[in-house]
Amino acid sequence: MFAAATTNYDGASHLTLQPTVSNSCTTMTPQPMGVSVSSQDSQQVAGGRAERRIDTSVAHPARRYDYWLGGKDNFAADRASGDAVAAAFPTVRTAVLENRKFLHRAVTHLARDFGIRQFLDIGTGIPTSPNTHQIAQGYAPDARIVYVDNDPIVLAHARALLSSTPEGATAYLDADLREPDKIIDHPELRRTIDLSQPVGLMLVSILHFIADSDDPYGTVARLVRAMPSGSYLTITHVTGDYFSTEESTALLNANNNRAAVDLHLRSHGQVARFFQDLELVEPGIAPVAEWRAEQAQEPRPPKEDVSGWAAVARIP
Ligand SMILES: C[S@@+](CC[C@H](N)C(=O)[O-])C[C@H]1O[C@@H](n2cnc3c(N)ncnc32)[C@H](O)[C@@H]1O
Repeated sequence: MFAAATTNYDGASHLTLQPTVSNSCTTMTPQPMGVSVSSQDSQQVAGGRAERRIDTSVAHPARRYDYWLGGKDNFAADRASGDAVAAAFPTVRTAVLENRKFLHRAVTHLARDFGIRQFLDIGTGIPTSPNTHQIAQGYAPDARIVYVDNDPIVLAHARALLSSTPEGATAYLDADLREPDKIIDHPELRRTIDLSQPVGLMLVSILHFIADSDDPYGTVARLVRAMPSGSYLTITHVTGDYFSTEESTALLNANNNRAAVDLHLRSHGQVARFFQDLELVEPGIAPVAEWRAEQAQEPRPPKEDVSGWAAVARIP
C-alpha cells in the first residue's frame, strides 16, 4: 500500500495537501491542510510544487530529527536510520536537544539583544515548539520570518509555522539551500522581508547535509552578500573533532547507508571558513551546548556528547 502527498498550489488562493494512492510499499498518514493567502501581510506558503511525493521508504533528515526529538512525524525507515546512527553515536538525542536549545538562545539574543526583527531560517525542519517565529515574536511581536526547507513533509506541516502575530508576518518557501538565488529572489521572501534592513540568517543544523561538491562555502557567501550590514549569520554544524577516525567512519556509514541525504562532518577550521570576513560575537565558535549557556540548566553535557560547533557572527 502506498500513499503520497500531493500539494496543489494555485499561487493565489490556497494550498492543500491531499493523499493519493499509488503502487509502492509504504504508508503515511495524510495531513490535509489549507492555508489561506490573502494579503501582503498575511501568512503565506509559497513555492509548493505539484505532485510532491513524500517518500517514506528512505530516511529523511527532517523526519529522523523529529524521531530523535520524540515527535510523531516519522516512518519506519526514519526510525531504523535514527537507531543506526544512535548505535554509532549513542548521545545523538542529547545532541539534537542541545541544538534546539542553542536555536532558542541564539534567536533570543538576536531579537532581544541585537534588535533583529527579520529572520531567514533555512532548513526549518518539522515544526517543533518553540519555532523561530514564536521565540522572536515573544520579544518583538512585529518580527517577520521566512522559513525555507526542501522536504515535502515540512511543506505539509507549514501551517504550524505560519501562526504569526498580527503585527508580524511569516512565510514558508519550498526551496533548496543549494539554489540560494532562488531563495533570495523569491517574490514571497521579498514581500515578507526587507533586504535593506538587518536579517538573522539561520543555518542551524543544515550545512552538514551539503556536500563540498555542492559548494557550501559559495552558497553561504552568496546568502551573506544578499544581507545588509548589521545582519547576523547563525550556524550549527556536526563535527567529527571529538571522534576517532573509526568513530567518524562508523557514524558516516550509519547515516549514509540508510538515508536520502549524506552527512558531512566538518572540523572547527572548516566551520570557521563559513564566517570568513564576518565579526564573530562572543564566545566565537563554541561547542553547541556551551554557546552563551551561562543561564542554562546545569549540568551541561560534555562537548563530545553533542559533537557540534555553533556560532553567531555580525555581517559588517
Ligand atoms: C536537522 S533538521 C534541522 C531543523 C532545525 N533547523 C533545527 O536545527 O532544529 C535539517 C533540516 O534541513 C533540511 N534540509 C536539508 N538539506 C536541505 C537543502 N538542501 N535545502 C533546504 N533544506 C534542507 C531538512 O529537510 C531538515 O528539515
